[in-house]
Amino acid sequence: MVIFKKINDIKHYIYLQNTSGTATGFVPTMGALHAGHLSLVGKAKADGMLAVCSIFLNPTQFNDKNDLNKYPVSIEEDIELLIKGGCDVLFMPSVNEIYPDGESGAKTYDFGYLDTILEGATRPGHFRGVGQVVARLLEIIQPHNLYIGQKDFQQCMVIKKLVEMTGMSKINVIICPTAREADGLAMSSRNRRLTEPQRTIAGVIYQCLVSIESKQNAADFEVVKKECGDLLAAKGFIPEYIALADARNLALLSNYQKDVPMVALIAAKIGEIRLIDNVLLGK
Ligand code: PAF
Repeated sequence: MVIFKKINDIKHYIYLQNTSGTATGFVPTMGALHAGHLSLVGKAKADGMLAVCSIFLNPTQFNDKNDLNKYPVSIEEDIELLIKGGCDVLFMPSVNEIYPDGESGAKTYDFGYLDTILEGATRPGHFRGVGQVVARLLEIIQPHNLYIGQKDFQQCMVIKKLVEMTGMSKINVIICPTAREADGLAMSSRNRRLTEPQRTIAGVIYQCLVSIESKQNAADFEVVKKECGDLLAAKGFIPEYIALADARNLALLSNYQKDVPMVALIAAKIGEIRLIDNVLLGK
């Protein structure tokens, strides 16, 4: 695996690879890698791509600076995992390299409705930061395929919109299934911050999502939502939202709808740790 820190160097390397016939598959990350990230790298490789991964802890997407300061960092381990996972190129830019005009100087994008609900409403400014960094990384890497995880469902929609808005629609945005632990907990870098007792009960979020899915033909969403809220609270979580939405546009739904592709989404906090997850509702 080749590691680059400078934009000009990685651009030159990718250009040479592309001209010799290999397309680029890009996996953006903030580090603290886990099997979910590696599955994205694996998918890029399986698709025959030059697998390029970035590790950049983007300061502009943290509305809570405490969350930024406590975000797990494990560069040495990450590099080992990427090598084992078959990654070809790692990009590890500095903040100056990504934001040469300062953090507030980077171009911002308006995601409209998507930025007003769920993660947008509970983390003001978060998607503005995601938009800034992803636009910048895509401009640098110019991938053919972009691999992102379904765990951040709303972020996936924001990134798809960004790709359209910036005229980069030739990039294929490939949304990959959420990687889960044995108890269903969605893999996330933030899981590392859970204490052992917190980790033991954290699978309850997925249990709630499964229950929302399994009751779709038998109950009112409001009733299931209340049961889930109570269960999460009984385990010590503070639910931020338990929501049902149209999976095509994230329009919030007050009840299950026939003939609408739906997604159930949960955000909940335990101690200082905020976890999110979602499932698509099959028929
Ligand atoms: O999902 C993440 O890890 C980040 O939001 C991303 C897409 C790498 C942008 O910093």
